[in-house]
Order: sequence, then structure tokens, then C-alpha cells
Amino acid sequence: MNRLLYIQASPREERSHAIRVADAFAESYRETHRGAEIMTLDLFRKDLPPFDGLAVQAKYTILHGEKHSEEEIRAWRAVEAVIDEFKGADCYLFAVPIWNFGIPYRLKQYIDLLVQPTYTFAYDPEKGYSGLVTGKSAFIAYARGGEYTEGTEAEAFDFQKKYMETILGFIGITDISSVVIEPTLQGGPDVAQEKREAAIARARELARSF
Ligand SMILES: Cc1cc2nc3c(=O)[nH]c(=O)nc-3n(C[C@H](O)[C@H](O)[C@H](O)COP(=O)(O)O)c2cc1C
Repeated sequence: MNRLLYIQASPREERSHAIRVADAFAESYRETHRGAEIMTLDLFRKDLPPFDGLAVQAKYTILHGEKHSEEEIRAWRAVEAVIDEFKGADCYLFAVPIWNFGIPYRLKQYIDLLVQPTYTFAYDPEKGYSGLVTGKSAFIAYARGGEYTEGTEAEAFDFQKKYMETILGFIGITDISSVVIEPTLQGGPDVAQEKREAAIARARELARSF
């Protein structure tokens, strides 16, 4: 069975352009993949564990090959649960707004929980880094208030798409397709709607062969 994990990184729910486009992808995916299971993870509603001093200490304890304290074990189990849920999926769907040229902080927190040595990536002194989440694909709907068209000066400010592709690639997810909804603010509501509809049509089409 295909298990699709749908990760929503906008708090704007039905107002979110990225979620509206990703919803269309999910609907088309469900129609064209019999028996598919779609699990939705709303990062602004989910009670994510903190990646605080204790969790970081637990991570370093592993890196240094030491034994966890009772407190660290508890903190680390919460991190492992997030990783297990992520790795349990066969493929991924993301709805991602651009915030301050990057990604929303809840998505960054989620990534800080996920990206752990021996769980999602490995390091070998001779071969270097390798991703451990392999054989999986991802579709990402990106929304932006402005425009970051390739080849323009604005492209240099895009730390949203570049970061998502870099970090997913780092853990082994290199088969990534995406659509960009832009501008959602700069051109006014009519332009935003037009761009969103075009993105929905493209997302539906990509979902069929995903
Ligand atoms: C905190 C915050 C920061 C934002 N920063 C940017 C930005 O750096 N560049 C940009 O083009 N739009 C920015 N925006 C606008 C959003 O990217 C835009 O409204 C987009 O449609 C949000 O995605 P959503 O509709 O899926 O929620 C920002 C919005 C918020 C709330």
C-alpha cells in the first residue's frame, strides 16, 4: 500500500495557497492510486517535541558513543517517534509558504527533529555523508507573496525551495517535483487566484504519475 505523508507548514488552513494546491494534489493522488493511505500532519497544530537543550544533549551523547541518562532517553524517544512516523511513509507531500525568505519555523523545528545521524543520514570518514531515506519521492507546493523567478536578482533571496531541496536531498530524497504559486500578494487577489488555479491544474496532473 502507498502511504503518503502530507505535511502542512502553513497555519492559514483553507486560506493557504500552498495547502489548497497540495489538497488538489492529494485528491488527485487518491483518485489515481487505489488503496493509498494519506496521513496529514499539520505542523502548526501538532504538538511537536521541542528540540531543546536536553534533546540536543541526547543527540551529542549518541554522536560521542556514550550512554543516555534516563532524562535523555525520554527526550530521545519523542524525537524517534517523529522520525519513525516520517520514515514509515512511502512518499511525501509538502505545503510550504515562504516566510522571511526561508521556511516557517514549525517546519524548521520538524526538520531539526528529523535530520539525525544513523536515522536519516550516515557519515563515513572515507565516503562522506549519505542519505538513509532512499527510494521515496516528494511533491512540494511552494507559496510566495512575491516573485523569485529564476534568472532574476530576486532568485538569490529564495532560501525556501533551495533549502527544501538541499535538506531533503541530504537525507536521501532526491526525486522531488514541485509547483510554485507566486505572487500571492504582490500582484493582487486576481493574479493570486489565477496563479493558484494554474498550480492546481499542474499539481493534479503530476499526482497521477507520482
Ligand atoms: C511571517 C511571514 C513572512 C513572510 N515572508 C515573506 C517573504 O520573505 N517573501 C515573500 O515573498 N512573501 C512572504 N510572506 C508572504 C507569504 O509567503 C504569502 O502570503 C504566501 O501566500 C503564504 O503561503 P500560504 O498562502 O500557503 O499560507 C510572508 C508571510 C508571513 C506570514
